[in-house]
Amino acid sequence: MINQHTREVNRSKGAANSDILLATIFEYMGKMSLETDIHKMLLLLADLGTKLVQADRCTVWLHNRDRHTVWTVAGHGVERISIPDTSGFVGRSIQTGVTLNIGDAYLDEHFNKTVDLETGYRTRSILCMPISNQEGTIIGAFQAINKIGMPSFTANDEKILTFAATYAGKSLESFLLQDELAETQKEIIETLGELGESRSQETGNHVKRVAEYSYALAKLAGLPEEEAMELRYASPMHDIGKVAIPDAILLKPGKLTDAEYETMKKHAVYGYEIFRKSGRQLLKTAAIIAHQHHERWDGQGYPSGLKEDGIHVYGRITAVADVFDALGSDRVYKKAWPLEKITAYFLEQRDRQFEGRLVDLFLDHLDEFLAIRNKYADRG
Ligand code: C2E
Ligand code: SIN
Ligand code: SIN
Ligand code: FE
Ligand code: FE
Repeated sequence: MINQHTREVNRSKGAANSDILLATIFEYMGKMSLETDIHKMLLLLADLGTKLVQADRCTVWLHNRDRHTVWTVAGHGVERISIPDTSGFVGRSIQTGVTLNIGDAYLDEHFNKTVDLETGYRTRSILCMPISNQEGTIIGAFQAINKIGMPSFTANDEKILTFAATYAGKSLESFLLQDELAETQKEIIETLGELGESRSQETGNHVKRVAEYSYALAKLAGLPEEEAMELRYASPMHDIGKVAIPDAILLKPGKLTDAEYETMKKHAVYGYEIFRKSGRQLLKTAAIIAHQHHERWDGQGYPSGLKEDGIHVYGRITAVADVFDALGSDRVYKKAWPLEKITAYFLEQRDRQFEGRLVDLFLDHLDEFLAIRNKYADRG
């Protein structure tokens, strides 16, 4: 009789628990299916883990094989934390593929106390298991810390977190691929930019400076973050068309003849031709910048003689960034100008070569631009 009753109670309790579990799972799967930001995805998975196994906190870690690190985000400030991929329980799970269910972390030789010491947090129980992708390669780890109301995580918690880890593996893989693609894209773009400049013996830092100046000026001009970022990544390619200019002209130590300068000017159209057929947003931006970075506010620029607002704001911004850097640097054909001469030039070219509003923003925030120039100074 008593046994019967106990079983009944247990069964109904179990049913209630699994209802809550299912509701939680569905709630989070809904949120995650809409998520496009890897950082937010990691936080959602961690939140889900916390609820599923009643942990005080949960962290989802991703393995970076190239850097031999595992990384995660700390919270909604989206600060990345990175540790060696051999360190602590996470490192052990990732290296060996085992699930670790630890009652008291302090009794385990693998426990790394540094984080507790820094944060004042007291870690007791830990449940840590690897996350694998579809092919079974370990791509990260799921770590739950401090089981609430019990001395350690149960066998059932292991089962439930395994389920979450399997789901995490499937959903994180496409994110990692996107991240990889985005990083690759940025790297190719920078390399292309450097190629354009290296032919004219300018340094790789020139393209970095132009990128940062363009970004800073875009922000000052009130462009949305997204467009400012587009400019940052695309502006390094403004001179890519120089790859098609003969060395005899590009590397000529002295002043160009009129005919040589006409050839030189074609780099803007060549650059535009390289990118114009692309359907990719970033390369479309690059096409505009390559095409229009030598247009002038007064309509006397090249290659199209566009005027004022007829010049895309990306072209107007890159023009300021490019010339500021060109004047401040040694070229085969000229020495770097002193700063006073450069600022005087920009004032004189207000509403002539450059849009006046941009010149004002630039000169009003000159410190910001000089800090960038310092940070990416040419050595040697
Ligand atoms: P760059 O060296 O990157 O210069 C970019 C722009 O910065 C120039 O566009 C120009 O607007 C400005 N700039 C650079 N140096 C000076 C300068 O000493 N005085 C003034 N007022 N502005 C300067 P620009 O003139 O359309 O030239 C485009 C590219 O053509 C230059 O890119 C450079 O690669 C080449 N180039 C221009 N002039 C000469 C030259 O006399 N000799 C050689 N070898 N190349 C030249
Ligand atoms: C890291 O592995 O240290 C950071 C990961 C990343 O930025 O992709
Ligand atoms: C270009 O002409 O450089 C691209 C199209 C545009 O003007 O925005
Ligand atoms: Fe140019
Ligand atoms: Fe340039």
